[in-house]
Amino acid sequence: MSTTGPSLRSEYASITPLQVRIDTHARHSEHPDDPVTAVLAALELTGSEALVDIGCGDGRFLAHLAEHGHRGRLVGLDNSTAMVAATDAIPGVEGVLGDAEVLPFADGEFDAVTARHMLYHVPDPHQALRELRRITRVGGRVAVSVNHRATCARTRQLVIDRAAEYGLAPGAGMVNDVNSTTLPPMMSVVFGDVRIHQCDNALVFDTPEPVIRFAESLFSFCGVDAASLHRAAILDAVTTDIREWFAAHPGQCWRDPKGYIVATATIR
Ligand SMILES: C[S@@+](CC[C@H](N)C(=O)[O-])C[C@H]1O[C@@H](n2cnc3c(N)ncnc32)[C@H](O)[C@@H]1O
Repeated sequence: MSTTGPSLRSEYASITPLQVRIDTHARHSEHPDDPVTAVLAALELTGSEALVDIGCGDGRFLAHLAEHGHRGRLVGLDNSTAMVAATDAIPGVEGVLGDAEVLPFADGEFDAVTARHMLYHVPDPHQALRELRRITRVGGRVAVSVNHRATCARTRQLVIDRAAEYGLAPGAGMVNDVNSTTLPPMMSVVFGDVRIHQCDNALVFDTPEPVIRFAESLFSFCGVDAASLHRAAILDAVTTDIREWFAAHPGQCWRDPKGYIVATATIR
């Protein structure tokens, strides 16, 4: 058995679980919703801005901008080498390895700064917010998105319950308490006025297989390391639970509420 347990480093060493989660949200959301569009709407870009995406993941937000004719500089920063490599491979996009708490950029270097679905991983989110402000020019915009606290709690709890049978529990330090309730007051302290766009939605599945894939993509956050000797047994149990639920509820969907906010500030 793994002695260290999952960590953010191990979770994001591969881009696959993140891609499974993003693809699941794209395919199985109850209401059409695209968080990329929501962040872009908040930023009101003209196309010439120098923009950096902090915690950029596989860089698909920046790829979207590059493909849609953004002319300004596009930078993605992440503290995972796998994510930076994927981002750097996108034509017209610069991938930078770094930490959100100590950004390797000059004061006011960017017109637009985003931190999408990542602040809940940062040990000192207040420091990261101060850094986002520091690197944005006066008149520029910062957009931060985070989930509702109980996002996808149903599927997550199923995995947590099965993992607990093997003495495994969500690791400390993987996710902090930054969510759609706590972020607005935190941002107000650093930025003053903050505009909030809220999206309430749910994942909805009409067959078991995509729920099983999604549940497995949450394993690290529920305490189940890729190297855990119990991983296969926990996956078997989760698979059986989900298949049995569908068998017992013919014609019904597995519904898991979720949502997020985009909080936007203009630098004064
Ligand atoms: C949930 S993923 C979100 C990725 C992307 N922003 C998106 O919305 O698809 C979180 C990302 O933040 C990165 N990350 C976590 N902590 C970080 C930190 N302290 N500094 C920079 N990146 C970090 C992870 O490596 C991962 O790529």
